[in-house]
Amino acid sequence: MKRLGVLTGGGDCPGLNPVIRAVVRKALYEGYEVLGIKYGWKGLIEGEVVPLDLRSVSGILPKGGTILGTSRTNPYKTEGGVQKVKDNFKKFELGALIAIGGEDTLGVANKLVKEGLKVVGVPKTIDNDLNETDFTFGFDTAVNIVTECIDRLHTTAESHNRIMVVEVMGRHAGWIAVHSGIAGGADVILIPELPIDIDEVCSILKKRHEHGKNFSIVVVAEGAVFKNDKEILSTEKLDEFGHVRLGGIGQALGGLIEKKTGFETRVTVLGHIQRGGSPTAFDRVLGTRFGVKAVELVKEGKFGEMASLKGNKIVSVPIEKAVGTLKTVDMDLYNMAKVFFG
Ligand code: F6P
Repeated sequence: MKRLGVLTGGGDCPGLNPVIRAVVRKALYEGYEVLGIKYGWKGLIEGEVVPLDLRSVSGILPKGGTILGTSRTNPYKTEGGVQKVKDNFKKFELGALIAIGGEDTLGVANKLVKEGLKVVGVPKTIDNDLNETDFTFGFDTAVNIVTECIDRLHTTAESHNRIMVVEVMGRHAGWIAVHSGIAGGADVILIPELPIDIDEVCSILKKRHEHGKNFSIVVVAEGAVFKNDKEILSTEKLDEFGHVRLGGIGQALGGLIEKKTGFETRVTVLGHIQRGGSPTAFDRVLGTRFGVKAVELVKEGKFGEMASLKGNKIVSVPIEKAVGTLKTVDMDLYNMAKVFFG
């Protein structure tokens, strides 16, 4: 039976719908039927599926989110989850599955391949922290949203002579912070890869004031930590992949900056604004290319592989190589950004 399934797992991100559309269009062209699996691995455990045809994917290219829904369900943390996935694979007569997700979703895909299931991957995350691909879709949209917000904060910071601290997403990698910080002309960028030296930050801000610049923009990644207090600010509750919910570093940093410099400071936490809404043209194109490549991988029987961007080419790499460790910020890029601090 030429039928393939497609699912989206983990946090949603702009560009998922362009991938789903591309998968369906290419798959139908190649003579496959397509079943959409609802809510990531949860749908494969519970058997919640929806047939996808040309009409189902019409008009979804510019839409954010995912028409399939998503969840952070982990079959390996659900009682009988893996067996149910296998049973439903058979029940729905899936010749293959395309799993669209980040490290967690693809980590599960990798394990299922080892158990004999035919799965290929498509890398997704606004965090851009997945190895073996230059970029993931969703990242460019997030960076553009943050950059626009920084531009807006700049004008009000300047009017009031204030320090504006902007907390951005990215989990344990500072990609969003570095790219949006460079694009938005931030005066300091703080990332999880380098613990924060609060005295150094305050000294940069004070120097700006000495040179007549009475406002500053500080971009801080949600996963950043203070040098002398390596504790990550987060909630205690873990999701099924063992992740804490990050957040709070902006507030802590803003308070310290105000106390140590005496400059009036405000904090903005951008949160899920960064993940919502329409994907940029770059992410629509990347998602489309990944979707088409994923169907080609299925056709070629390259299970356990994932679509990837290397340079300007879409290639395939073993999922195994992409998961397990995080792709953290390139220090050459960060050091370049530092030229503009202060
Ligand atoms: O991985 C994407 C991401 O948006 C991270 O940047 C962030 O830490 C996390 O997901 C937030 O997750 P949730 O939507 O579950 O709050």
